[in-house]
Amino acid sequence: MDIKTIFDNNKKWVDEKLGLDKDYFKNLSEGQSPDILYIGCSDSRVTAEDIMGIQPGEAFVHRNIANMVPNTDLNVMSVIEYAVKYLKVSHIVVCGHYYCGGVKAAMQSADLGILNPWLRNIRDVYRIHQNELDAITNEEEKYKRLVELNVQEQCVNVIKTSVVQTAFRQRGIAVHGWVFDIHSGGLIDLNIDFPKLLENIMEIYYLD
Ligand code: CO
Repeated sequence: MDIKTIFDNNKKWVDEKLGLDKDYFKNLSEGQSPDILYIGCSDSRVTAEDIMGIQPGEAFVHRNIANMVPNTDLNVMSVIEYAVKYLKVSHIVVCGHYYCGGVKAAMQSADLGILNPWLRNIRDVYRIHQNELDAITNEEEKYKRLVELNVQEQCVNVIKTSVVQTAFRQRGIAVHGWVFDIHSGGLIDLNIDFPKLLENIMEIYYLD
């Protein structure tokens, strides 16, 4: 890709926005109040705004390899804290996607250096759900199921945080687990029952 094209594209985009609303950037510069925190994969094919059909200002976005929420990762933990406590989002979405390279890598035994500790979090998801996953004989189906279970476990990681538990008690906040199906372009809601999930882990992870 010619980098110059990007600047040409940007100019076109600015003109297009101003053509529709001359105050577009003036309004945008006044602040943000997104209603959704979106945590997705860094995969170049899965861009948050495009798949959700939303505009700048509508979602606070965090992306990393395989849409992970490791509880010791200062980056994702800061994003959650800021989005929930200060931006006061009403929804937190963890969105995975089928054919995720990060999940695929975690299913193989290759030593990938600095990626090992990151991918180990996905191997932990496999271990938690080993009985179910080992029972799936079709490799592609197993791969897809691990993508789904990884989203579910990252939702659990979101719920483990005190800021989310407090927001749930004080004003109600919803946590959603989705999968983007690259093959069809469709967004699948895993219909994770957030209050039930919270109840299930309450005994161990409840923070007051
Ligand atoms: Co991915």
